[in-house]
Amino acid sequence: MDVAGSFPRRVEPPWLPGHDRLLFVGIYAVARILAPVQNSPERRLNGPAPHRLPGDPPLAVEIARILRVDHAGEFGATRIYQGQLDVLGRSRAAGAIREMAEAEKRHLARFETLLRQRRVRPTLLHPLWSVAGYALGAATALLGEPAAMACTVAVEEVIDEHYQRQAERLGDDALRAEILSFRDDEIAHRDVAIAEGADKAPVYDLINVAVKTGSRIAIWLSTRF
Ligand SMILES: [Fe+2]
Ligand SMILES: [Fe+2]
Repeated sequence: MDVAGSFPRRVEPPWLPGHDRLLFVGIYAVARILAPVQNSPERRLNGPAPHRLPGDPPLAVEIARILRVDHAGEFGATRIYQGQLDVLGRSRAAGAIREMAEAEKRHLARFETLLRQRRVRPTLLHPLWSVAGYALGAATALLGEPAAMACTVAVEEVIDEHYQRQAERLGDDALRAEILSFRDDEIAHRDVAIAEGADKAPVYDLINVAVKTGSRIAIWLSTRF
């Protein structure tokens, strides 16, 4: 009796001959990769937490890293806005910058509390971010309001991605909701900067690439040190 022959062994329709089968498998694979439902941010944020893999750090270690890098990032953000305000404090955009700076101070205060509660040390690079953040804010502000806003767009877009990735990793931890709430604030800051004319910056693309690259390097370093 031919038992094996009674079970379907392939996913492709059996009526497709030769190279059409190959074509079908190729299209199926590409469709799986590109399927919007599979890859939409909403699904990733609302769906179950990803399985932890062998070799992943324990959750407590990962949370310590998250708190350390986020504390560093919010501190850096307060320094960027301080640098901008010292240059543009009397400009038309001063009110908007001041409001964003206040939100960053609230985020920073929350992460300071969380670091203390969970006994996590801050990054060793704190003094570097103080200088670098302030210099970035002041330098872009000296180029004019649109350049300062272009800097804000770049920083907030990186933080948006960064918080989204963290939320995906955190599963049910209470920290997830706070990070998603802060992410909403950062997206709002990006929108304010766009409304304030970020795209009118003379070297928008250069600022965008340079600030995003710097921010990603700062995140990498602050996670580890
Ligand atoms: Fe923030
Ligand atoms: Fe922000």
